[in-house]
Amino acid sequence: MWKSFVDRWALVTGASSGIGAEFARQLAARGLHLVLVARRREPMQELAAELHSRHATRCEIISCDLSAAGSAAEVMAAVREKKIEVDLLVNNAGFGIVGEVEQADPARIQELIRLNVASTTELIYGLLPAMLERRFGGIINVSSLSAFQPVAYMGVYAASKAYVLHLSEALACEVADRGIIVQALCPGVTRTEFFEIAGATGWLQKHASLSPEQVVKKSLKKFGRKNWVVVPGWRNRLLTLLVRFGSRRRVVRESTRFFRPRRKKEK
Ligand SMILES: NC(=O)c1ccc[n+]([C@@H]2O[C@H](COP(=O)([O-])OP(=O)(O)OC[C@H]3O[C@@H](n4cnc5c(N)ncnc54)[C@H](OP(=O)(O)O)[C@@H]3O)[C@@H](O)[C@H]2O)c1
Repeated sequence: MWKSFVDRWALVTGASSGIGAEFARQLAARGLHLVLVARRREPMQELAAELHSRHATRCEIISCDLSAAGSAAEVMAAVREKKIEVDLLVNNAGFGIVGEVEQADPARIQELIRLNVASTTELIYGLLPAMLERRFGGIINVSSLSAFQPVAYMGVYAASKAYVLHLSEALACEVADRGIIVQALCPGVTRTEFFEIAGATGWLQKHASLSPEQVVKKSLKKFGRKNWVVVPGWRNRLLTLLVRFGSRRRVVRESTRFFRPRRKKEK
């Protein structure tokens, strides 16, 4: 399967750390060239140098805030200018917010929606038509285990990932017989900077987790098979089944056990 992608270009968002950087590594090892997109340029430059020396990978770096209006269009214009045809889109950039409603920063919530939902959608609808014309290509959208049920105290994030999951499955079905592969990757807890940034400090240390290497390995192994949705880890797959048996109310109530912030004791 991956042989047909050798010397073709993948665009990976959120390539400066975590799962995105790991996608870049494992795709480079399969012979793809890379457009790396995120805000922090330096880690992407280091990654590009590493991949060039290891695999002779050609890397283009685009430093961009994908939560800014018009940014996805700017990325696609930059790619066109470099005369690069993107055959694989990895929509990975994203962040979460954990906390109570009163503590939420409305501007940060807007950022999350623009990054996790709007830019993700713009990149898909901007790049997919050319893939369809070539009758070749693929999209991996990074969703989450939290997409399978509402999650209390993490509601906006979980809803954004449910959007990504539903859109991916709908598109996978639409384009499956036109030479295009679409996968929704739904990782559970993964050892990255995600929880620190989400405001759930210390959470990662308390829960079983997978490494970004394991998550990406599973995604790429399943890519092109019949799996439109990939959930790495058997415990995580079991959870996606269990939530189907409980009442919706019960399932959301269970989720409060995970992310309810500790309230300060009133004097
Ligand atoms: N870790 C988990 O447990 C877990 C579980 C399920 C799903 N996920 C999903 O996996 C994806 C990758 O997250 P991760 O776990 O690898 O966390 P991470 O290490 O924090 O990586 C997030 C990436 O997104 C980029 N990013 C964040 N805001 C951006 C913006 N405004 N514009 C452009 N790029 C931006 C970051 O780069 P810059 O800061 O340089 O911009 C970084 O490269 C996310 O979509 C996340 O929701 C993670």
